[in-house]
Amino acid sequence: MPALTLITREGEEKQLDGNEGLSVMKVIRAGGIDELLALCGGCCSCATCHVYVDDAFLDRLPAMSDDENDLLDSSGHRTPASRLSCQLPFVAALDGLRVIIAPED
Ligand code: FES
Repeated sequence: MPALTLITREGEEKQLDGNEGLSVMKVIRAGGIDELLALCGGCCSCATCHVYVDDAFLDRLPAMSDDENDLLDSSGHRTPASRLSCQLPFVAALDGLRVIIAPED
């Protein structure tokens, strides 16, 4: 089972088991992390699932859609490492993925 390392807003590091086929957002929520709100449930309309992805994994992620790009533009905390975690399928190639929950907007 691929694993994911999550850094919370308080800087706490957590190891989460990921189920392939779930989005990164759902892996985080299933791991009991409520501070990633994911208010729209994963339909790319809220940006409350914003995370920063470790540089080493950025080129393994699917291309960003226009909708995701527009939503991230609405965040005051966007960086080159920003992605919406609901738009990232957690696949085997992402085993060991490290993400940080972005500050709340
Ligand atoms: S959960 Fe709403 S955009 Fe990701």
